Amino acid sequence: MAQFTLPKNSQITEGKVWPKPAGAARTTEFRVYRWDPDTRENPRIDTYTVDRDDCGPMVLDALIYIKNKVDSTLTFRRSCREGICGSCAMNIGGSNTLACTRGIDECASNNVVKIYPLPHMPVVKDLVPDLTRFYAQHASIEPWLKTTTPAPEKEWRQSKEDREKLDGLYECILCACCSTSCPSYWWNGDRYLGPAVLLQAYRWLIDSRDEATGERLDNLEDPFRLYRCHTIMNCANACPKGLNPAKAIAEIKKMMVERQV
Ligand code: SF4
Ligand code: SF4
Ligand code: FES
Repeated sequence: MAQFTLPKNSQITEGKVWPKPAGAARTTEFRVYRWDPDTRENPRIDTYTVDRDDCGPMVLDALIYIKNKVDSTLTFRRSCREGICGSCAMNIGGSNTLACTRGIDECASNNVVKIYPLPHMPVVKDLVPDLTRFYAQHASIEPWLKTTTPAPEKEWRQSKEDREKLDGLYECILCACCSTSCPSYWWNGDRYLGPAVLLQAYRWLIDSRDEATGERLDNLEDPFRLYRCHTIMNCANACPKGLNPAKAIAEIKKMMVERQV
């Protein structure tokens, strides 16, 4: 795993206030977290003013405006710009969400938008968190179809009813908004799998085509990997896709109990 020095967030300082765009009639201020791994100075908050008549309506549009027209050193991830890839997850106006699907006017307070990286993760640079552990945890639940019977000639068939059981699960884009808003994951993220990965685990547990249910449950039967969820529900509130990881976790716990009866 790559090693990054954690920025000391308790020592965040005021950064640069960038010049306002000349002649702009309608503007919004963006206060953005900055941290540079090369200088390793304390994190700072830079202030940018965006010309709203020269910028799209979403927070990602404003970040791209800033990068292209004001400060090319500002670093953030993005790819699809339509809520599909999960790359642009960050903390905007106090909530974890996707920059590409969050409207500027939805999250501005007094015409100011505050943007930080996803909380409680190491920072690679500026708004980019290090998700190495998160992805390793996802790999640990073996997120693929596991079967023992010989593969069918054409395809693994599934009834309409069984397919519907995957609704509310398959839509997860692994953005990590839920896990990084979960207090249990903040404090025990090295051992607790967190809501995103557990939702993914449940997606495979209830797939009618999968033949490794017992093995998957054995892999989760651990005081930390599964049982650190205390049903605080931050995860469901944070999910930009409207999913409910807490419910999936409760279903896994139920499967654990039922197999012991
Ligand atoms: S319900 Fe469980 S997983 Fe969701 S935020 Fe709370 S403790 Fe975390
Ligand atoms: S459950 Fe929602 S918030 Fe969590 S990773 Fe999946 S899409 Fe993102
Ligand atoms: S850029 Fe892909 S989800 Fe935002």
